[in-house]
Amino acid sequence: MRILIINGPNLNLLGRREPETYGKESFEDYFSKLQSKFRAVELSYYQSNIEGELISRIQEADKNFDGIVLNAAAYTHTSIGIGDAVKAISTPVVEVHISNTFAREAFRHKSFLSAHAKGVVLGFGLQSYDLAISSFLKD
Ligand code: DQA
Repeated sequence: MRILIINGPNLNLLGRREPETYGKESFEDYFSKLQSKFRAVELSYYQSNIEGELISRIQEADKNFDGIVLNAAAYTHTSIGIGDAVKAISTPVVEVHISNTFAREAFRHKSFLSAHAKGVVLGFGLQSYDLAISSFLKD
């Protein structure tokens, strides 16, 4: 089982960025924990602040992974291009958010990805990624 985690803009700052919303742990530290927990899963991780790079990575990942866990961050709410990329590929994508976007500003309630995702996990802090990975194991 091969799963790719893709993080979008500003998520490279996890641990330092708005810790009251996103927590105090860096994604690198959390990723090590995920690797220890899901030893049977080959986990890969990619992060970019650039929309086109995220689209290219989603396209490249198609058929090379069993699943993609995608937190497109702010692009979730703006990017038709990332939504189209998720729609275009056959590898299933689970959309993830650390925070409960529906409990936040109205502009965060819209997602251009959700309609094309296998499912959505949000609001559980970093554990949202854990739950998204687990969802692939239940197939
Ligand atoms: C986020 C929620 C987005 O609204 C925000 O722009 C992010 C992170 C989350 O994981 O909670 O950067 O995707």
